[in-house]
Amino acid sequence: MSLRRNSLSGLLLLLVCVSAFVEELDDSFLETRGADDIWLIKFYAPWCSFCKQLDPVWHQIGSELRSVGSPVNVGKSDATVSIGLAKEFQVRGYPAILMLKKDVKYNYSGPRTREGILEFANRVGGPLVRSLSSLQLFQHAMDRHDVMFVYVGATSPLKMVSLPSLPAVVVFKDGSYFTFNEERDGDLKSWINRERFLNYMKIDSYTLYAMGETGKLVLLALVEANSLCKESLRYKSLVEKVSAENRETYSRHFHFGFMEGGDYINGLVMGEVTLPSLIVVNLSNDGYFLPPGAVETERHLLDFLDGVLESSIECQGGNSIHQRIRRVIYDIKVTLTPLFSQAPLFGCFLVSFPLAIAIFFCYLCCKARSNMSEDDDGEGDTLSAPSPQRRKKLSDKKTD
Ligand SMILES: *[C@@H]1O[C@H](CO)[C@@H](O)[C@H](O)[C@H]1NC(C)=O
Repeated sequence: MSLRRNSLSGLLLLLVCVSAFVEELDDSFLETRGADDIWLIKFYAPWCSFCKQLDPVWHQIGSELRSVGSPVNVGKSDATVSIGLAKEFQVRGYPAILMLKKDVKYNYSGPRTREGILEFANRVGGPLVRSLSSLQLFQHAMDRHDVMFVYVGATSPLKMVSLPSLPAVVVFKDGSYFTFNEERDGDLKSWINRERFLNYMKIDSYTLYAMGETGKLVLLALVEANSLCKESLRYKSLVEKVSAENRETYSRHFHFGFMEGGDYINGLVMGEVTLPSLIVVNLSNDGYFLPPGAVETERHLLDFLDGVLESSIECQGGNSIHQRIRRVIYDIKVTLTPLFSQAPLFGCFLVSFPLAIAIFFCYLCCKARSNMSEDDDGEGDTLSAPSPQRRKKLSDKKTD
């Protein structure tokens, strides 16, 4: 008996441990959390399928951070229930992933993968600035980061880079390094914001969105999601070459990269883009530019970029009223089309049901109105409202 109870409590303990990797947080979280606790939190909604896909990943992240003794706590919160918490964190879309460290919030906008999120958690969870006191430490950090911002002090052991003057702020990326120059680059924060991407890289929708925040345009080679055709490979290498060889001229205005699959851009242009193709997007206003002709050579691509900068190539899309109305219609179409093609009956039902209710109400209104004019002898329909005459009679009775 007691043995049974022991194993039962053991089991319970195990269950508690398993689920404790990820804590469910509610509105009381902000009062109860320790001031120095570091949290990685996922906000989800019960109806959101992306959130459900993320569940097993989130559990893995929780158990992994726990097993390496990370100071980062992992939690999740149903934003439709813990409304106060979601509001505090300004959650707008699902799943929203962010970290809370002291009183500072960090949004995660990278890919929703275990590696991506763990890297984010470790980076934000660790010290914000690390001292690279030896060349070995520097090399080690370089191996692990594609882009690294370094403050180089006057007595730095970093002799491999030749800097015009010390101290300096340098970004290491693309196999090279670039020094911050206040006169040329403006304030340090916005320079870091602009320079935090590789010159040429694979871009997914999250990265694209983050790139938009720098105010730069993005030149994309749109290619197939798998097994690239020859033309796709040519577009990719063309963009990479142009980005590397014309860094001085264009990196102030453009990010460069390639994107696999056309879904995201289809949504932006509200149509079907051909794969492969080249496109420049302006994420500040959802505008886009297409090359006016075939892009065969580097010169063609450079002319295209110049045309965009000089506004000799027309910007399409955008966020004017007209485009916004188009977008609403497009969104409805995109939502309904698969519904009709996969389950035509259900689709018909979904559209016709509200329509039928609306027609029924119209019918009732009309009927009530026609009753009103016919209803002289007091023979009313039970569904219609009392006619004015009858109401008068009732009130007469009341005053009697
Ligand atoms: C991109 O959009 C912003 C915001 O509307 C605008 O100011 C900028 O001129 C646009 N860039 C180009 C190249 O059209």
